[in-house]
Order: sequence, then structure tokens, then C-alpha cells
Amino acid sequence: MNDPGFRALEWIAGKNPGDPPVIRMLDQTRLPYEEVYVGIRDHREMAEAITSMRVRGAPAIGMAAAYGVALGAARMEADDVDAFVNALRPVSDLLAGTRPTAVNLFWALDRMQRAAEQARAGGGDIPAIRERLIAEACEIDRATFESDIALSEHGAELIEDGASVLTHCNAGAIATGGYGTALGVIHAVHESGRDIHVYVDETRPRLQGAKLTAWELTRYDIPFTLISDNMAGHFMARGEIDAVIVGADRIAANGDTANKIGTYTTAVLAREHDIPFYVAAPLSTVDQKLASGDLIPIEERDHEEVTLIGDVLITLDGVTSANPAFDVTPNRYISAIITERGVVRDPFDKGLATQFEEHDRERT
Ligand code: MRU
Repeated sequence: MNDPGFRALEWIAGKNPGDPPVIRMLDQTRLPYEEVYVGIRDHREMAEAITSMRVRGAPAIGMAAAYGVALGAARMEADDVDAFVNALRPVSDLLAGTRPTAVNLFWALDRMQRAAEQARAGGGDIPAIRERLIAEACEIDRATFESDIALSEHGAELIEDGASVLTHCNAGAIATGGYGTALGVIHAVHESGRDIHVYVDETRPRLQGAKLTAWELTRYDIPFTLISDNMAGHFMARGEIDAVIVGADRIAANGDTANKIGTYTTAVLAREHDIPFYVAAPLSTVDQKLASGDLIPIEERDHEEVTLIGDVLITLDGVTSANPAFDVTPNRYISAIITERGVVRDPFDKGLATQFEEHDRERT
């Protein structure tokens, strides 16, 4: 139970003392056709892996960035402790410049920076700071798994036996490096022995639903139906969808939620048909510094993702296109946000703030 059966990312220490570490990463650009693992040896290779979406999904991007800093530190030499900590800044900046929307990336980089500074303030030498950074990245990894399981169990309580749920994009174990968020909820329902059927939006333009969610659900033996994005309203109108559940890339303090492009359309459709719309995400996806969703930076990706499917041009060469990777669903369309600390409903700002207070209280 609770084991997806694979790891999206894994820290592999060198065999002998002094051997360089490596991250073993499932290359998501090769799914569903091939399950290929690649070795990531330094922060530059990690930045490339995030930009090219070998690793993707907000929590997994955060974990990857943390491991990127740890890899950078493991290979870095410096004359003294101050020079070492200063040299971490460009490593972090390179990783921060990869993708702008998922806040987990910046959350993880902040944690790594703080860890280095605390180790220095505690009188640590360069090997001690390196060890502290590796330990911090591994702790982010461990805690991701734990919070995925907790939020999946909270979310599973909202889904009835025999329900049919729609999901958009991929918010599974490959998107978190743990158990998954929206797909974690679905997986937890299945693992508890209840029946569940999933409608999987294909998720144009990069097809995370068709390629990745379908791959994960097949592995878990969870029944699903793949649909193109424009079919969701049809199935809702026919009463075939009981709930919508999605992940998130960044949630503003008031609950407005950025997630994969097309999520907003699905939320509006769900409201029209009186279907609950749930967002499942860890607190590390909540950006308390942003009051509302209009402040969330939205990544614009290569327009060829729209004009081509694979290598095949599907329109006239040179047409004007747009490719925002995410959209923002206003909080009024969201029935509940499910985090590792439980279920938050309107007013979201108060509920999320209370969860952060509890979290901070437990840590001090
Ligand atoms: O562009 P992607 O594939 O990184 O987008 C991923 C999503 O939008 C996910 O729904 C989100 O990150 C949640 S992952 C648990």
C-alpha cells in the first residue's frame, strides 16, 4: 500500500567515499513509450532536466531544484566557507530561472539557501555545509512522500464508493516525487478497496493526461477513460462525472489556483453542472506572499507545442499562436482545497492561514 512502485527522482550516493553522487531520474519526456532512467550529475544537468520537462509537476520540480543545489554543492570547491556559500547563489539562480509558475521551486531553493546559512552560522566547515545541504534535499524528498500520503487520505474521504472523477494534467507520483496529489487521492480511494473510475483529460498541448496520467493509472490498475479536453462538458451534462480533482502549481493566499492550462475551463463547467471541484496540493504550493491569483506569473512556452503534435505540423506554417502553460481558477469555483493538514473551504484565506499557523507552531 502507498507505494507507487517507482521513484521519479532518487539520490544515489557514490559507491565509495569521495565518489560523486548522482540523481536517478525517470525521464518523463519518454513516457508512455519507454521507462527510461537518466543520471543527473550536476546542477546544470538538473536545470536542463527541469526546462525540458524530463521532470515536471510542481512538487517534483521543487525536489529536483533542491537536489540540484545539493549536487552543485557536492562538486563545488572553494577557498573558505564564505566563498563556498556565496558560490551557491549562481547555482540557485540557474535553477530558479528554469520555470516561473510552480512556487515549490522557489520554496525549495529558499530552504536550501537557509540551510547553508544556518550551517555556516553554526560554525560548519565546507564538508559540513555540503552534508547539511544533502540532508536538507533528502528531507524535502521524505517529507513530500509523507504529505502526499496525508493529503491523499484526507481527499479520499470526499470521494464516494463508485464515484466517477475527472482529472486534468498529471498530478500523480511522477509529478511529486512521492505518492501524488490529485492522483494520490484517486490512488488512495482505489487502495482502500472502493470503486473509482477516472475521466482523464488528454491535456493539450503537451498531453500530460494522455501520456502520463494514463501511464500511471494503467500501472495502478485503476479503470479510466481518456477524453479530449473539449469532451468534459458533454460527460458532465450526461451526469457521468461526480467530482473534478486537480493539482496545483501555485495557490495564492486567497485560494485562487494556478494549474495546467484548461483547469479553469473545467472548473467553470463543473460549477454549471453543480459538480464539486477539488484542488489537492501540499502547503509548499501555497504562496502566502501573493494575495490573489492575478499576481501569479504564468509561463509562456514554445509555440511549437501548439502548432505541432510530435513532429507533425497541424496548421499552416507561420500561423500566430499562443501557449500559456497554466491558467488561474478563481477561488469562487473551488469547493475545497485539500492539503496535508486537511480540507479547507471558503473562506480560503482564513483556512489556509490557520493551517500555516498550526504548521509553524509544530515546528517551534
Ligand atoms: O507543466 P507541468 O506538466 O509541470 O504542469 C503540471 C501541473 O499543472 C500539475 O497539475 C501540477 O504541477 C500539480 S503536480 C502534483
